Amino acid sequence: GVTPNIAPSMLSADFANLSSEAHRILNSGADWLHMDVMDGHFVPNLTIGAPVIESLRKHTTAYLDCHMMVTNPLDYVEPLGKAGASGFTFHVETSKDNWQELIQMIKSHGMRPGVALNPGTPIGEVYPLVEAEKPVEMVLVMTVEPGFGGQKFMPEMMDKVRILRKRYPLLDIEVDGGLGPSNIDMAASAGANCIVAGSSVFGASEPAEVISLLRSSVQK
Ligand code: DX5
Ligand code: ZN
Repeated sequence: GVTPNIAPSMLSADFANLSSEAHRILNSGADWLHMDVMDGHFVPNLTIGAPVIESLRKHTTAYLDCHMMVTNPLDYVEPLGKAGASGFTFHVETSKDNWQELIQMIKSHGMRPGVALNPGTPIGEVYPLVEAEKPVEMVLVMTVEPGFGGQKFMPEMMDKVRILRKRYPLLDIEVDGGLGPSNIDMAASAGANCIVAGSSVFGASEPAEVISLLRSSVQK
């Protein structure tokens, strides 16, 4: 079966102390570090890019799960690859015509390709990318509108997760936005195995407890 990957979102970390925040959260049991790259154009917010990922990479060997909320993901492949990114998840909305080239480039730069979709995007739009000769290896189902941490989880997105899990029993399916102890069972039973959690982990007095709760729900 699929293994759980708990991916705290560094968007909720103290950006002025990124290295110590990363170590704190990895020591609390995180599997991946979720890195939200935003360009102020695809989404109305600007966060981090290749230079910050390159800096963080010097302080950790952790899997850096990069979520590319950018209008032109192709422009970011080489910089992110050189910076030491591990996963490169682009949005299907940005890449209707060039996803094959994009997947190819991501792999040739040593990263694992994934595709994300916004709440308003139908799930069928990712099928060709999962079924391609060179496929994406993860689908990220947004459970909030992308752009900001701390928003409310959209339970109606679980239909997409269920449909994906039924169709692809071994696929990595990631959920992102508003996840925490109150809704993890819903996401896990729908079939998600990669769990992004920003405010619920970083806002907790004991992040390790929240991470272990998220993991045990996925393992059930
Ligand atoms: C939203 C980002 C998320 C966000 C999650 O655009 O993609 O990764 O940081 O944060 P929470 O868990 O607080 O919704
Ligand atoms: Zn994200």
